[in-house]
Amino acid sequence: MNRFMTVAVAGAALALGVATEAMAQAKPDVLVKQRQAAMTLIGKYWGPVAGMASGKVPYNADIVARNATYLENLSQMPWDGFHESTKGEKSRTLPEAYSQKAKFDEIAERMQAEIAKLGVVARAKNEAGVKQQFGAVGKTCGACHDGFRAK
Ligand code: HEC
Repeated sequence: MNRFMTVAVAGAALALGVATEAMAQAKPDVLVKQRQAAMTLIGKYWGPVAGMASGKVPYNADIVARNATYLENLSQMPWDGFHESTKGEKSRTLPEAYSQKAKFDEIAERMQAEIAKLGVVARAKNEAGVKQQFGAVGKTCGACHDGFRAK
């Protein structure tokens, strides 16, 4: 093995080690807490955007831009928490989240894509664009909660 290959293999082993360690650390009850915490923060930063975009709260382009950017990051965080190992934990997640994982993941990806579009118009201070895009984001929240979250 030449030196380059040795370094490449060591790098791959390190990356695998980090992934394995991260998985080993995450106990099911902790994963549930983490996914609920991510969703709670998504709710926190989504609320004002929805209120402003629907005209219920006076519009503030700076808050919308900040919140949309937070949401772009937060929207990537809950998903590894919906791991098979959490099936037996008490939560509002319905069993379908595990048995229909492909559908669940598809909605999660759609939500991230729609929020990314929201981020673009929000940072451009494009109020009309935000008012149009917020509905598309809201639909993805509803689509998943309807099928995968207990009332
Ligand atoms: C792909 C599925 C999915 C999408 C998309 C989704 N959620 Fe959720 N959400 C869930 C599930 C499942 C739970 C229940 C989590 C649990 O208890 O294990 C939840 C819980 C929540 C909670 C309650 C958190 C708590 O534990 O008290 C809030 C608030 C929330 N979601 C907001 C949102 C908002 C706002 C959006 C859209 C911007 C959204 N969610 C998009 C699946 C989703």
